[in-house]
Amino acid sequence: MGNAVFTHGAVRLELPMVRATAGNNGYDITKLLARTGETTYDIGFGSTAACKSAITFIDGEAGVLRYRGYPIEQLAEKASFMEVAYLVLYGELPNAEQLDYFNCAINGYHLIDERLKEMFRSAPRRSHPMPLLAAAINSLSTFVYTNPLIDPTDLDGATHRLMGAVPTLAAYGYKNSIGQPMLYPLDSESYVENFIRMSFGVPSRPYPFDEEIIKALDVLLILHADHEQNCSTSTVRLVGSSGANVYVSVAAGVNALSGPLHGGANQAVLEMLAHIKRDGGGVNRFVEKVKQREAKLMGFGHRIYKNYDPRAAIVKQHADAILRHRTGHDELLDIALTLEDTALNDPYFQERKLYPNVDFYTGLIYQAMGFPVDMFTVLFAIGRLPGWIAHWREQAADPTMKIGRPRQIYVGQAKRDFVPLDQR
Ligand code: ACO
Repeated sequence: MGNAVFTHGAVRLELPMVRATAGNNGYDITKLLARTGETTYDIGFGSTAACKSAITFIDGEAGVLRYRGYPIEQLAEKASFMEVAYLVLYGELPNAEQLDYFNCAINGYHLIDERLKEMFRSAPRRSHPMPLLAAAINSLSTFVYTNPLIDPTDLDGATHRLMGAVPTLAAYGYKNSIGQPMLYPLDSESYVENFIRMSFGVPSRPYPFDEEIIKALDVLLILHADHEQNCSTSTVRLVGSSGANVYVSVAAGVNALSGPLHGGANQAVLEMLAHIKRDGGGVNRFVEKVKQREAKLMGFGHRIYKNYDPRAAIVKQHADAILRHRTGHDELLDIALTLEDTALNDPYFQERKLYPNVDFYTGLIYQAMGFPVDMFTVLFAIGRLPGWIAHWREQAADPTMKIGRPRQIYVGQAKRDFVPLDQR
């Protein structure tokens, strides 16, 4: 297949094909409006590629996900989150020296300004930690630059600062919500260890790490590290396209992630499973409600995957191992497994190609780790951070980059004249 030709009355417009190295090619329609006076209409951008990107590849029909060419299954099994973050950000796996430098540079920023802590103290007890995280990342920018435009020579500094500070800010949001003291990060601890201890530790006693939990969280962060042009990443790119700095762009990404149709689904899944348990009507009754459109099966369906989400398959193995090992029997896991099985064998879900997505089993693991539901999407955000920064950087380095500015099709009133107040 080559270029396409679009005809519009007497206008014959050649649409050049933009070639992908894998997956869908795209037709370049940038001249369409100028040549025909008409625009395109694509609700939810289902058929629109907004950029070229070399970071992540997804084949949704085949259930394939690769970061910089490496299959997610291999990365989840063999790499650490820090190696994967480096890979996503810089394009190659780090050697030992590069990884050491990356870890040290990030550790240099995990201690945050004491004044930034005050922001958390001014928030009410039990504040949801997700908007607090976004607010804290926005605030972080005020501790770095007086000029709202980032110094383009210090992108690595901004990358290390965000990677270093975000787990600390996330843990402080949680500590604020439960009224416990905020702990300092330690240079001697790994990225995940620091986050776990700052979340669950108290100053009065040493924190007893559980290696199984550390490893499981590391894998979960890897699975969330990037997912090409999803809602939050597109938000980061759109905000960044105006020239806004990487901190405030990432904060916007956190807000986009919070919605239940996106990252907020992990919280919604656990609430759904708890509802099914409480309701007592069983899985079949809930599935019937979904088919009657009275409810949505949270953690199912995906804009891109029309097959099993490869991340969900990995999470499911870990959920099964961790939950069964810890509790021997987990009622919510049993409900989730029955729900998945029922849905996958039901024509409603089969016809629509609805499969479990990454969020279906993650909440169960987060809960087993001791996190409350409010923290689930925050954990997703920590994982997605390298992806957001990588996309912001990729876009900023692209010489063809333009400010993002979609068109609309106006369907409001035709021109009419102003009516004075006493005549309305
Ligand atoms: N439960 C029941 N029906 C569903 C579901 C679901 N979870 N998802 C899609 N459908 C149905 C729709 O009702 C629609 O049916 P119809 O054609 O008869 O009207 C059909 O499947 C297609 O669905 P769309 O909404 O058009 O799919 P879209 O690509 O716009 O939405 C989305 C994708 C938002 C993920 C959707 O599947 C959904 O809401 N899922 C539940 C929320 C969720 O788990 N989100 C997390 C996604 S992964 C992530 O962001 C990390």
